[in-house]
Amino acid sequence: MSGASRNTVGSASPIFSSKHPAGSQIATLRLQGNRIMMRPLVPSDHAAWSEVRLRNGEWLSVWEPKRSDYIADPATDYQAFERRCVARDRERLAGTSYTLGLFIENTFAGEVNLNNVVRGAMQTGTVGYWIDRKQAGNGYVAEGVAVLSRFAFEELKLHRIEVCIIPRNVNSKKVMEKLKFRLEGLAERFLEINGVWEDHLRYGFTIEEWQDRKAAITQQWLVSKT
Ligand SMILES: CC(C)(COP(=O)(O)OP(=O)(O)OC[C@H]1O[C@@H](n2cnc3c(N)ncnc32)[C@H](O)[C@@H]1OP(=O)(O)O)[C@@H](O)C(=O)NCCC(=O)NCCS
Repeated sequence: MSGASRNTVGSASPIFSSKHPAGSQIATLRLQGNRIMMRPLVPSDHAAWSEVRLRNGEWLSVWEPKRSDYIADPATDYQAFERRCVARDRERLAGTSYTLGLFIENTFAGEVNLNNVVRGAMQTGTVGYWIDRKQAGNGYVAEGVAVLSRFAFEELKLHRIEVCIIPRNVNSKKVMEKLKFRLEGLAERFLEINGVWEDHLRYGFTIEEWQDRKAAITQQWLVSKT
């Protein structure tokens, strides 16, 4: 069996080519919820990723940092997407970010990411997410954040994760309500979103809260009801 075929995760085609710099530990990272599966994106995901990104242009761009005109767009440029995958793999190997594609019935539908992982006295990370509008309203992102919380606390042993949301992003605040993340306050002019320094609500969730609510979150989001 070749190295490439050994690294196949959840699809018929190999995820990593033999030239891929990632090791087997990264190739096999796969987080499972009740209805969703999350794994690192790989170059062969480009067609699916780019179709979803391009179809959801306005739905996503108003909530994301403005893309520089000087940097190739991974949605339209395969090599830029390949470089993005390699950069994300390196971050994961360094333990600074865990960016994961969210799959519903093996179809790519969005991303749930743990970024800015800081160790030392903080032991923290920032969660970001988006989903294809076609799949919105089904609680898939809340499930993805529940899966990522379990990974952050039980595997990475972080102490706290946070989510930062522009106050007018009602849909994203609903995700926090569903998971009962704790609203900590407003950070003024916190992040550049679509070219504007936007205020953000900061929601925190610590390992103590995870331990208190783990059974309920697992029951609601992480186990099959059938
Ligand atoms: C925010 C977001 C990730 C929520 O994901 P989701 O899986 O749809 O979350 P939910 O299913 O819990 O739905 C949240 C709310 O969105 C609204 N909603 C549902 N379907 C919708 C649709 N098709 N179109 C617009 N809004 C919809 C509903 O008000 C829902 O709340 P409810 O379940 O109490 O009725 C998603 O709306 C999205 O990707 N938005 C664009 C990018 C973004 O805002 N990212 C987050 C930045 S902090």
